[in-house]
Amino acid sequence: MTISIEIPQPDDWHVHLRDGDMLAAVVGYTARRFRYALVMPNLVPAITSTAAVATYRERIMAAVPVDAADFRPLFAIYCSRVIDLDDLRRGAADGSIAAVKYYPAGATTNSAAGGSSMFDFMSLFEVMADSEIRLLVHAESTDPAIDIFDREAHFLSEQLAPVCAALPELSVTVEHVSTSDGVDFVAAHPRCAATITPHHLARDRSHLLANGMRPDLYCKPVINSTTDRAALLAAATSGAKGYMLGTDSAPHPTTAKYGPVAKAGVFNAAYGLEVVAEAFYQAGRLDQLGQFASTNGVACWGVEPPSSTITLTRETIDRELATSLTTTKGDEVVLFGTEEAALWTIQTTPVTAATFGC
Ligand code: DOR
Ligand code: ZN
Repeated sequence: MTISIEIPQPDDWHVHLRDGDMLAAVVGYTARRFRYALVMPNLVPAITSTAAVATYRERIMAAVPVDAADFRPLFAIYCSRVIDLDDLRRGAADGSIAAVKYYPAGATTNSAAGGSSMFDFMSLFEVMADSEIRLLVHAESTDPAIDIFDREAHFLSEQLAPVCAALPELSVTVEHVSTSDGVDFVAAHPRCAATITPHHLARDRSHLLANGMRPDLYCKPVINSTTDRAALLAAATSGAKGYMLGTDSAPHPTTAKYGPVAKAGVFNAAYGLEVVAEAFYQAGRLDQLGQFASTNGVACWGVEPPSSTITLTRETIDRELATSLTTTKGDEVVLFGTEEAALWTIQTTPVTAATFGC
């Protein structure tokens, strides 16, 4: 049976677009699918100022394909001691800076410039609370004594909970929430929202480890247990407004994935939406897809609602799907979600603005 659903054009509230030839190779996947995309600042050197955002934005827009007519990147800067508070306030006021992203140093790809404790940044967070600038948090302990699968819960209770208690006006996004503890944390904190990735919704650690180690599923925070996945899916499909799609699409060349140490990151910009659609479909909650992928983020970020829709159809069509891309330098990146992509087709459907009452 063919099943179809029409949803407002979706947004991606967490994406890594990289730079140079990798940016050129990946940006079209995001720009053709999504309208807003919140671009992460973990380049080397990290993006920490309005000036760096402006030049990065130019490089991104120069690489966007012409048929991606309505792509609207937003930018987070990297939480670091070098942030100039006046520059941050100016950037937030003129819209060039959407948020500040906290990375625990050593937790993930390009996090060396991150913090060793959130408490070192309380004066910055106070300014952000006053100026209504959202804090995005990679919530993962780097304490080697903490088991890798418990690191989100540990970080949330030891670091983010006291910050939220001290600054109740600060708006926070728990990025790529990966555990039931993370879901509970968001539910208990009214000013906290969360992004959820396609891969955390659709895979668990047995997919990562049970039948040979799968470097293409390795990301930070790591994909966790079946119980955690069920909690994420329940949250994403619940209709609760605090949960939104953030793909955390993070391309790495196969040379960095298949060596003795795999870099963390899943490249899902190509098929992430199909992966989420299939997860919702399997949960019997396809009706909630628009809320999660389109509506909740727009409301959370206070941006203009879309005037177009996309239609996702579950049907098997005989076609050849790409399984990887190659950059101009010859680096190959594996596309996550080909299984789900084989089950879904996605069409862009322009509609009149009146459809959404805007
Ligand atoms: O898996 C990840 N990859 N998690 C992150 O937080 C960063 C990202 C990347 O930049 O590769
Ligand atoms: Zn990320």
